[in-house]
Amino acid sequence: MRKKVTVVGAGQVGATTAQRLFERGYADVVLVDIVEGLPQGKALDMLESGPVVGSDASIIGANSYDQTASSDVVVITSGIARRPGMSRDDLLFTNMNIIAGVTAQVVKHSPDSIIIVVTNPLDAMCHVALETSGFPRERVIGQSGVLDTARFRTFLSSELKVSKRDIQAYVLGGHGDTMVPLVGYTTVGGVPVANLVPKARLDQIVQRTRDGGGEIVNLLKTGSAYYAPSAGVAEMVDSIILDQKRVLPCAIYLQGEYGLRDLFVGVPAKLGASGLEQVVQLKLSDEEAAMLKKSAAAVQELVDVMHKKKAAD
Ligand code: APR
Repeated sequence: MRKKVTVVGAGQVGATTAQRLFERGYADVVLVDIVEGLPQGKALDMLESGPVVGSDASIIGANSYDQTASSDVVVITSGIARRPGMSRDDLLFTNMNIIAGVTAQVVKHSPDSIIIVVTNPLDAMCHVALETSGFPRERVIGQSGVLDTARFRTFLSSELKVSKRDIQAYVLGGHGDTMVPLVGYTTVGGVPVANLVPKARLDQIVQRTRDGGGEIVNLLKTGSAYYAPSAGVAEMVDSIILDQKRVLPCAIYLQGEYGLRDLFVGVPAKLGASGLEQVVQLKLSDEEAAMLKKSAAAVQELVDVMHKKKAAD
């Protein structure tokens, strides 16, 4: 029997993720959204591409969770984007409620699933999914690092005119302004990038990576990135469903690794059939360690705001 993946949220990120997974053909896909007809219409459209793209998988859309039962992996992309006049905290509280509601349904119908969280603010939403689900940390993982790293590799590839595939890089920390691109571990065909790109130019590339999400929003004006984010999610799903044991930068609930505890932070993680299989510990320079600490503090701040709100409600 084929594996089963549910994608919650049939917007830009969710639908593109569903498309990428459907086209891989290794899993049946269920696309869920609250808007009536939206997931059904997109799923049917994708299904009808099957004969051309060569996928025999099934894909269906739904407004409830019955058909998601016993999913192996559930990708959560549901949420709203920040609207004019809305504070970051307003967005935080709205998406917090959405993720809590969705997670409760996921747990009810797919108690053994592995959850991949994509909704922003990412690290905070991972906390909501972990706390609501009661799942072990191995089964609640956030997507951010694969995307941030892909952006970094893309910019380096353009700079050096080298294949993107031959650039190895890690971006750690929270998914935001405080992310930490690890220049020391970034290599091009095995050569450290610092030997190839002058420091001032490298700093510019790092900054462009940090601002990568904003650059796309400024161009699109009506939404945020979805092609690269969905590619990142699909790479994580591949590693889990196909038990590839890839080492990918993901948001993981740290339990002492990197000197951090009870906090979701982006770190290199081995993903396989049981979800998180190992946190890979890299030795950081003092400067990188300080940046990671700052990044973790920014995540902690959001988590504290959420816990306060929860206690007040
Ligand atoms: N259950 C299911 N779907 C929901 C719910 C809910 N409770 N609440 C909202 N949705 C759906 C919306 O109906 C919409 O179709 O989530 C979808 C979100 O889609 P978009 O607005 O297109 O947003 P998208 O660009 O896909 O981004 C989704 O991913 O990368 C992050 O920052 C991004 O947090 C955002 C998320």
